[in-house]
Amino acid sequence: MKFKNIKKTFLAVFVLILGLTISTFVFADEDEEGDGHERHERGGRNEGEGRAIIPENTAYKNECSSCHFLYPPEFLPKRSWEVLMKGSDKHFWENLALDEKTSNEILSYLIENSAERGRSEWAGKILKSIGSATPLKITETPYILKEHRKIKTDVFKRKSIGSFSNCGACHTKGAEGDFEEDSISIPKQ
Ligand code: HEC
Ligand code: HEC
Repeated sequence: MKFKNIKKTFLAVFVLILGLTISTFVFADEDEEGDGHERHERGGRNEGEGRAIIPENTAYKNECSSCHFLYPPEFLPKRSWEVLMKGSDKHFWENLALDEKTSNEILSYLIENSAERGRSEWAGKILKSIGSATPLKITETPYILKEHRKIKTDVFKRKSIGSFSNCGACHTKGAEGDFEEDSISIPKQ
């Protein structure tokens, strides 16, 4: 090979490497978490859908929606649901008085649809944010706390909201698994 050709080859390889490096940065940037304002368009488990699975299990609906919002199973990991259901006679300050069969049915349903198996991007982010912890509240997970950090405590205390745990008060389509920003409306009182 002539010297001139070697130089040309070097130049070509250099340009190729430079191109690859730049495109790696550009695409990596697209994957960045951003500020929670990104669109959710990719498919697949835990990474794309801007929808959480809508809870459709009858036992779960009957036994778990009379006191509060029916939480998407994919907003907590399997181990959290196990601890919560095992302690259903001391559920925060309530005794849920569930018979064993019903309790087992609900637990199986929650496990089948837990954060590890959720379809929304939020499930993946919640899971990542908790590390090896076993939170008993969705509202205590770092990702959910981070997303709501700008909301003042007083806002949660408004009459039509009551507490942070009352997701449906602000997430108008939360019951349909939609927690996207454009369907959020914070009640004024
Ligand atoms: C008798 C009323 C009652 C029923 C029925 C009930 N819960 Fe609860 N639940 C509570 C209370 C009270 C809290 C604590 C809320 C708070 O701190 O503001 C709570 C909180 C929770 C939370 C944490 C919410 C958060 O802040 O992230 C989860 C998860 C939960 N319940 C799951 C369930 C499941 C699963 C069932 C059905 C097996 C169920 N609950 C049925 C009363 C109830
Ligand atoms: C007082 C109103 C209010 C309550 C109650 C509330 N949220 Fe939110 N939530 C918001 C607001 C406002 C944002 C948007 C924050 C931002 O992007 O600036 C948000 C953001 C989110 C996001 C991220 C959406 C995205 O992709 O950007 C998720 C997921 C979420 N909330 C879940 C929940 C869950 C689950 C509950 C109940 C346990 C809950 N929220 C309770 C107001 C509320």
